Amino acid sequence: MGVVSIDDVMYEIFGPLSQGAPGNDASTLRALDAVPCRDTLRRVLDLGAGHGRTTFTLAQALPDARITAVEIHEPFVERIAERARKSGLAERVHAMCGDMAKIDVAAGRIDLIWAEGSIYVVGMERALVMWRPWLRAGGCLAFSDFVRWTGDLPEEARAFWAGEYPDMASEAEIPSRAEAAGYRVVCSFRLPRNAHEAYYVPLEARMAELAGSADADVLKAREDIRKEIDVVRRFCDEAGYTFFVLQRADGCAPVAGDIGSGSVTWAAGR
Ligand SMILES: C[S@@+](CC[C@H](N)C(=O)[O-])C[C@H]1O[C@@H](n2cnc3c(N)ncnc32)[C@H](O)[C@@H]1O
Repeated sequence: MGVVSIDDVMYEIFGPLSQGAPGNDASTLRALDAVPCRDTLRRVLDLGAGHGRTTFTLAQALPDARITAVEIHEPFVERIAERARKSGLAERVHAMCGDMAKIDVAAGRIDLIWAEGSIYVVGMERALVMWRPWLRAGGCLAFSDFVRWTGDLPEEARAFWAGEYPDMASEAEIPSRAEAAGYRVVCSFRLPRNAHEAYYVPLEARMAELAGSADADVLKAREDIRKEIDVVRRFCDEAGYTFFVLQRADGCAPVAGDIGSGSVTWAAGR
């Protein structure tokens, strides 16, 4: 059967890769290390989990935590669930097919929300407001996003990103946005070049493999991605991924007992 929808096109392109955004275990663990009291983390949401790279890095680093990986694309969800089973982590890693903007999470239940390379799906401003009530008092939100590192981008990059990511934030404005939304910034750091290339090198190789595709939609997406890789690399001093770890700044008492009507559930005793 041929490729039939945009989801299918994206899965055809990204399916064989091992991650869907820049980042590597070193950068993920660097951000995790900044989370206060990380040994007390029990309930973790990995939003837009994709292939599950971050899900399993977090699961290994947090042996007492239960990770719920939320992903809208069913084949990725199945892949995470299968990997959890095969690696003996099915008790602690739960793969859930859902929309990160619509899942039902009871207030104050989450210790840590992880959104590596995925906060753009909801939009940063909206996500900061929407997800904050899910966090317990002192709970954290860690995310990475493609942002402007310098004041003004060169014209070619500005024009490209105006079309591809019109909501792109400036790194400098994010702390005040976060504070206005009720967080304090625990730490932020720019992903190093090797963490960017951990994504772009395999993606570029995948684009080469797809050069002979007979599918017009795949070829169109391939051209768009090749252009994006080119712009990212040529303007890599002006824009790139920055990681932010935020902590909920004010009180929201942890909710005792089960999660109630929330559709994100935890096994008894956790
Ligand atoms: C850029 S990828 C990042 C994947 C992963 N976090 C990583 O670092 O490799 C974004 C992921 O979000 C998923 N996604 C897109 N819209 C979504 C939504 N509304 N709810 C949940 N997941 C979504 C996509 O299918 C994709 O796997």
